[in-house]
Amino acid sequence: MSTPLEPTVSVLLDSDWASGSLVEDVRRGLGSRPLTLPPKWLYDDEGSRLFDEITRLPEYYPTETERAILARHAADVVAASDATTLVELGSGTSDKTRMLLDAFTAAGRLERFVPVDVAEQTLRDAADLLSRTYPGLAVEALVGDFTLHLAHLPARTASGSRMVAFLGSTIGNLYLEERRAFLGALADSLEPGDWLLLGTDLVKPVDRLVEAYHDAAGVTEAFVRNSLRVLNRELGADFDPGAFSYVPFWDGQMERMDLRLRAEAPQTVRVPGADLVLELGQGEEIRVEISTKFRPGLVAEELAEAGFEVERVWDDGDGVATGDFALTLARRR
Ligand code: SAH
Ligand code: TRP
Repeated sequence: MSTPLEPTVSVLLDSDWASGSLVEDVRRGLGSRPLTLPPKWLYDDEGSRLFDEITRLPEYYPTETERAILARHAADVVAASDATTLVELGSGTSDKTRMLLDAFTAAGRLERFVPVDVAEQTLRDAADLLSRTYPGLAVEALVGDFTLHLAHLPARTASGSRMVAFLGSTIGNLYLEERRAFLGALADSLEPGDWLLLGTDLVKPVDRLVEAYHDAAGVTEAFVRNSLRVLNRELGADFDPGAFSYVPFWDGQMERMDLRLRAEAPQTVRVPGADLVLELGQGEEIRVEISTKFRPGLVAEELAEAGFEVERVWDDGDGVATGDFALTLARRR
């Protein structure tokens, strides 16, 4: 057995969050109505731990469904493409990704794995574990923001194309305009013939959607609430997380879950790090996250608009577009 290669970790993100884009994001999001928080700030160490717990909740079907699709079709993904580099955006623990890594390794094709995430410690732990599990594979982790740093993805090698995996329906956490900008920037950072493997959660009956984001154990609520703790710690804010209730609902018009925190009483919140004083009326809400659900036609349309051509779609249903979750393999034109 060969000695594992040491993983490399490059930091593109300012590791001091408070001096980085958190301040700008908070000024933009809480500086005007409607009040919003950008989702990447949910994933500090505690948030990453809570998210990992979410993926194991009985109500939260997306993780297990996507895992089942990968278990069944990872070899097909590898066979349908000619990539020798796998990049993963928002990789987290890269747990499900192992099925792709196994299939690529079995085909004797993978040279490099490049996980990209804002959650530095989670990424470092994942990189260590993967290097040990796949000796001979170069793991080149990037601590970075996939809405800002796509131009820093490693270039194509002489031996083959790149595949960018974006799993977990994380794309659904971007707003429509952000999604468009993201897909356009991704297409720009790739070359014709490179690949995108995109996981998207699909529109389904409302009760199942609401349950998935309002679990009985209250883990999702704790995850959403943790965003206020991040602001308290990083920006010296004085949010009282207990003074807010958790309000998750389905927005049928936008076809997305909308996850909010509602001020139970009028209150003044100071956010010194962002030079902000927030006057909240009773019942006023902060939108912490959205999770858009997709119709298969929309995914193909948005990909086409950005310069990708859909090659294959796999889902967990018995035919096209009948499942809960879809995995789309597309090629940069
Ligand atoms: N891919 C995993 C994790 C999904 S959770 C899965 O499918 O289960 C979303 C992940 O994206 C988290 O690890 C979070 O830290 C990361 N993330 C969120 N916003 C990000 C951003 N703007 N740039 C890079 N990573 C981001
Ligand atoms: N991409 C995941 C999703 O939209 C992230 C997620 C799961 C999430 N549960 C959440 C985001 C709760 C915010 C709140 O399903």
